[in-house]
Amino acid sequence: MMQPKLKSKVRCTDREIGEVTKVVVDPLSREISHIVVSMNGSGERQVAIGQVQAVTESLVELRALSSDIVALPPFKRDDYVTTHEIEIAHLEENIHVTPGEVLVPFPELEKSVKRRTFFMNVTHAIGFLIGLPIAYPILRYLMKPMYAPWDNRWLKIGNVGKIKQEDIGVQFKYEKKVKEVYMPVADVEKNVWILKATPAVLEKVYEGKDMEFRDAAGNTIWTNKKDFPYVAFSGKCPHLGCGYKWRKHKLLGQVFLCPCHLSIYDAAGKVLDGPAPRPLDALPIKVSDSGEVQIIDMEFKAGTKSQIRIV
Ligand code: FES
Repeated sequence: MMQPKLKSKVRCTDREIGEVTKVVVDPLSREISHIVVSMNGSGERQVAIGQVQAVTESLVELRALSSDIVALPPFKRDDYVTTHEIEIAHLEENIHVTPGEVLVPFPELEKSVKRRTFFMNVTHAIGFLIGLPIAYPILRYLMKPMYAPWDNRWLKIGNVGKIKQEDIGVQFKYEKKVKEVYMPVADVEKNVWILKATPAVLEKVYEGKDMEFRDAAGNTIWTNKKDFPYVAFSGKCPHLGCGYKWRKHKLLGQVFLCPCHLSIYDAAGKVLDGPAPRPLDALPIKVSDSGEVQIIDMEFKAGTKSQIRIV
C-alpha cells in the first residue's frame, strides 16, 4: 500500500472527514504507525494505520465510520517530537511524506527505557562502523588542539535583561575565535544556557558549596558563589556533545531536552532521564551592574561521569 501523503483527503465508509496533517512514525520499525487527521475545523484525531483501507495520490480511505473517528480522543501534540528534533537513522529511506510534520512519540520515563536503550545502541553501532574510516585521520589531526593551553578569557555574551522569568532556560549565542592547528583563525558560533535561579534551584546546582574553576596548573581562576542567582550551563550535552533545548515535557514540566539520545535535565542541570552520565556543565559566570553577562567558555570531555576539562 502507498504511504499516506500529507494534505490527502480522508474518507470514512460513510463520508469525507478531513485531511492528513501529520504522520507518526514508530522509531524502532521506522514505519508509519498513525496518521493525524484534521477534522474539518473540529480538532485533530490520531488514527492507527491499521484503520487505513486504501491510499491513492490524494485520498486516504478508512475502514471505519466517521462517528468512530470523531469519538477518538483529541490528538495531543505535546506527546510527540518532530524528526527534526530527534535523530533516526535511515528514516528518509522509509518515509516519504515531506514537506510536513513527521512525529515520533515523546519518551515516557516509565515505559520507554528498554526500547530507547536498544535503539540508541543500534544507532551508535551503525554510526561507529560508517564513521570509522573517515574519523581516524580527523581524530589524529584534532589530537594536538586538545592539548592546547586552556583559554580562560572572559567573553561578553549579552545582557540578563532578556531573562524575564526565574528558573527558565534562556539561550545566549556568541561567537568565539578558534584556532585549530595549521588552520586560519575561524569564528565559531557557540551558545550557553543562562538561568536566573531561585534559591531552591541554586541549592540543587551548588549543593551548598561555592564552585571553583581551575586553570591547567590547578590554580583557582574563578569561584561561582553558591548564592549568586545567575547560572550558566555549557551548550553541549555531556553525553556526546549535541546541542540541547529548553522544552515542555508532559510529565516533568519544563526541562532541558537533548534531541540526539533524549537525555533530559531539570532546571538545575540534574539528569532526569536518558543516557547522560553527569549533570549539565556549569561555567564560570559574572554579571556587571548594568546586566552584562560574561562567561569563561570551558569544554569538558563528553561521555564521562566525572567532569574532565579539555578546552
Ligand atoms: S548527546 Fe546524547 S543525549 Fe545528548
